[in-house]
Amino acid sequence: MSRDTSFIMSYGQREETRLEDLYTDTQMELLNDCNESLGFLESLEQLLGDHAVFNPQGETIYVMGDAGVGKSILLQKLQNLWSKKELQTDTIFCFKFRCRMFSVFKDTDQISLGDLLFKYNCYPDHDPDNEVFDYILRFPEKVLFTFDGYDEIQMHDLMNVPEVVSPEVKAHPVQLLISLLCGKLLKGSQKVLTARTGTEIQSRVIRKKVALRGFSPAHLKTYIDLHFKEQEHQALVSLQLDASPHLCGLCSTPLFCWIVLKSFRHLHTMHDSFHLPETCITLTDIFLLLSEVFLSRTRSPAPSLLKKSTRCVSETFKAGLKTLTAFAKLALQGMERGSFIYSQEEITECGLAEEDLTMGFLRPVSDYDASGSPATFELLHIILQSFLAAFALVLDEQAAASSILKFFTECSRKSEPTCLLFGFCVCGSSKSNEKMPFETNEHLQFTNLFLCGLLSKANAGLMEHLVSPVLLKKKRALLKSYLSTSVKSHLIGLPHYDSEDGKKVHVLPNFLWMLRCIFETGSKDIALMTAKGITASFIKLGYCNVFSGDCAALNFVLQHRQKLLGLDMDNNNISDYGVKQLRPSFCKMTVVRFSVNHLSDSSIEVLAEELCKHKVVEVLGLYNNNITDAGAKLIAQIIEECPKLRVVKYVSNLHQSKV
Ligand SMILES: Nc1ncnc2c1ncn2[C@@H]1O[C@H](COP(=O)(O)OP(=O)(O)OP(=O)(O)O)[C@@H](O)[C@H]1O
Ligand SMILES: [Mg+2]
Repeated sequence: MSRDTSFIMSYGQREETRLEDLYTDTQMELLNDCNESLGFLESLEQLLGDHAVFNPQGETIYVMGDAGVGKSILLQKLQNLWSKKELQTDTIFCFKFRCRMFSVFKDTDQISLGDLLFKYNCYPDHDPDNEVFDYILRFPEKVLFTFDGYDEIQMHDLMNVPEVVSPEVKAHPVQLLISLLCGKLLKGSQKVLTARTGTEIQSRVIRKKVALRGFSPAHLKTYIDLHFKEQEHQALVSLQLDASPHLCGLCSTPLFCWIVLKSFRHLHTMHDSFHLPETCITLTDIFLLLSEVFLSRTRSPAPSLLKKSTRCVSETFKAGLKTLTAFAKLALQGMERGSFIYSQEEITECGLAEEDLTMGFLRPVSDYDASGSPATFELLHIILQSFLAAFALVLDEQAAASSILKFFTECSRKSEPTCLLFGFCVCGSSKSNEKMPFETNEHLQFTNLFLCGLLSKANAGLMEHLVSPVLLKKKRALLKSYLSTSVKSHLIGLPHYDSEDGKKVHVLPNFLWMLRCIFETGSKDIALMTAKGITASFIKLGYCNVFSGDCAALNFVLQHRQKLLGLDMDNNNISDYGVKQLRPSFCKMTVVRFSVNHLSDSSIEVLAEELCKHKVVEVLGLYNNNITDAGAKLIAQIIEECPKLRVVKYVSNLHQSKV
């Protein structure tokens, strides 16, 4: 286990990074059953302890977080700590599972618990009399399980599969998984399960809950310092990041941060004048950077110390177009099939050669082959799969242009209830063999988002080198018209209600994806139309899982609004970076509700400056943040200087006093 977990996934199979050289704690917030904060976990060593357990009958510790926030790495670190006996636990066996492997089984497969543990997970060297298994059955509390990526199992209504109660009975692996999680099998064993935010898990199963909130500014600094050994690089990157709260906001997600820093290192070494983009960087730009790095690493000669080349992005993409197209095709096929794993044949069929496998897009997977089955691969990260799938939609010159919208259609259709269980479906579905691509549609939402970015005006210069300009124009027009229509109908369909503060509108989760897409397109027309389309005087985005990177998207739309607007964003994770990105919009905000958002005094500095300048604010909500005395003084200043301000909510801050 110690050897298995020592390295962070080897991107490009060229370089391995030692986990301990790069692992940086992220913000691990403990939550109760109602998702209210119970404070932060100080260190991972304490994850298995009894602190913050809200349901002692529950058997599973549930770690949730957004895409790329570091759930898989957290489990890796946990396993590594376990192997070094540094975890607060007296377990002596540890089994690590990636949930996506459960989708590899056929619907009809039936295996025993023993097989699941010893054939599909690890192989005890010598245990002819089943001594190990018998011991585990007798002392389940001596076993630790980690299950990574519950959202990656492609089944609906997972928690309703019939449970297995006897370890001797053969059952479908998913049934075994659910039975383990519920404690029907190996009751008392310790279990840590990770999943993307929003994945439904029955609360009776959950013992305690941890939400990963990404890097705080201090973590970000530590991570930069770990990433760059040279002080000169550390300083340069910090300086460039400081110039862009939006980029910092994106970098609070470790995956995006890793890409940005990795790209910086590579492109800065190759080219003299490489700077991180300061403003308006989008997620698409981040994944374009990553692709550029992968494509250029194989093409260009090693950089000479004396002479660095001039960076030409379109040349790099043009030179790598054939390979990129092949990877994109592979990703799209996976997306359509609902699969993250590729066989060697599928890879060859898409036109990829042996040497392409070392570029960085793909990496080999060893977890799945139970007994020496042929090698399988997966894309570096699921979000990269979504990105490449979007690239395939843009590059495809054969399919009808309108096919670029297929995942949008899929996502809008997805809200209909479906029953797609396997053969043992409790509601007796006749479609037992049908598999929808992905249980959640977040992967498709990401593809849509990247599609918007790739077809944006800002990227037209690059894309025109890769696709015929006429086709590109057609696709862009189609997308724009689709987005406009769906934004209009979405806004009309939002639930409005009257309150003493005027007409309020509750925003649905899809609205956030819409905002993200609009921001990626960079289209002022659509932003303007959206801003005008919000007829209510108050929008409620509470509990919508808004993270700091989203605030640029929100600001992009709100900038175009003329009328005053109240904004309720209580219970999200916008952090100081988010508040900084909203700066231009404060001039029209009558209600500013940012309670429970991990804000510190630096947010209050921005608020004090802007709210006192414009004096339109009426309600200010800031409870449950990290504001100290200095911030409290600034709030007092806002109260003094803003005559319309009638409500201020400010308790449970570090200052612990009521204003
Ligand atoms: N705590 C951390 N310290 C250093 N790097 C990290 C950390 N967490 C994540 N990373 C970097 O971000 C990448 C993505 O993280 P990870 O795969 O764990 O995300 P995830 O939350 O599991 O995403 P998904 O929901 O898509 O599975 C890692 O490969 C690693 O490079
Ligand atoms: Mg993961």
